[in-house]
Amino acid sequence: MKVTVVGAGAVGASCAEYIAIKNFASEVVILDIKEGYAEGKAMDLMQCASLNGFDTKITGSTSDYSKTANSDICVITSGIPRKPGMTREELIGINAGIVKSVSTSLVEHSPNTIIIVVSNPMDTMTYLVHKTVNLPKNRIIGMGGALDSARFKYRLAEALEAPISDVDGMVIGGHSDKGMVPLTSHATRNSIKVSEFLSEERLDQVAADTKVGGATLTKLLGTSAWYAPGAAVSGLVQAIACDQKKIFPCSVLLDGEYGLTDLCIGVPVVLGKNGIEKIVDVSLSAAEKAHMAESAEGVKKTNGLLEL
Ligand code: LAC
Repeated sequence: MKVTVVGAGAVGASCAEYIAIKNFASEVVILDIKEGYAEGKAMDLMQCASLNGFDTKITGSTSDYSKTANSDICVITSGIPRKPGMTREELIGINAGIVKSVSTSLVEHSPNTIIIVVSNPMDTMTYLVHKTVNLPKNRIIGMGGALDSARFKYRLAEALEAPISDVDGMVIGGHSDKGMVPLTSHATRNSIKVSEFLSEERLDQVAADTKVGGATLTKLLGTSAWYAPGAAVSGLVQAIACDQKKIFPCSVLLDGEYGLTDLCIGVPVVLGKNGIEKIVDVSLSAAEKAHMAESAEGVKKTNGLLEL
């Protein structure tokens, strides 16, 4: 199992680190445009192998796509991250050009790969990859919902004063401050609906805190987060690499599912060796349905800014 991670910045490096630590991939190639940077990150990570007990071989390269040839999975983290006060949508101008050229080069060398898009605005960048490369739609996946759901579970556990392992919940919709749709009606604590423990007001607060999860960190860190984004990507990569058939919310091209067409947005999917193996239909409350429709409109508006 060969995995390429494009972008050796904080998210790309965390992603490579978590993939290696989980020890399921034979090879991880990290690519970056900054001379020597990916090579340095790869060497530093390889020097963790004996300490952390993994056998994954990690190599780095400065923009040599031939090194990525025949990757089973390629992760695109390239582009600029947001600064405090910025929305993810404001990154479109610079990141669209980068994502277009990166995805083209990747598919040139790995025509059967599965692409995971992390660069922001992620739903629009995932749509752009669909419009740029000739891959079946099950092989292009946007990572947002897995991260947003992890942040939702963190906030739910905090409100419930419960361990995170006791909590389950999912966020669908666009990966944006306004577009996220935390499914509070489906969230549970050890199979009991969280509404049994938390008032509607407290649940609304959990949802609001979840939606600005990335912005809160950007304010604290001065740039966007990397540990949870990296861990979320590694979860998707592992589900595909190990054919786990796990359900994650991912940004995928919809063709009528959830009443939506011609956009990529977060919905629950089954991930296995073929990438997206199934889009899972979940019943939504009237409020969640309305929120999802509004979220889709926001994503389509951002997609409208692409020069296709
Ligand atoms: C975040 C970025 C990765 O939400 O979109 O932290």
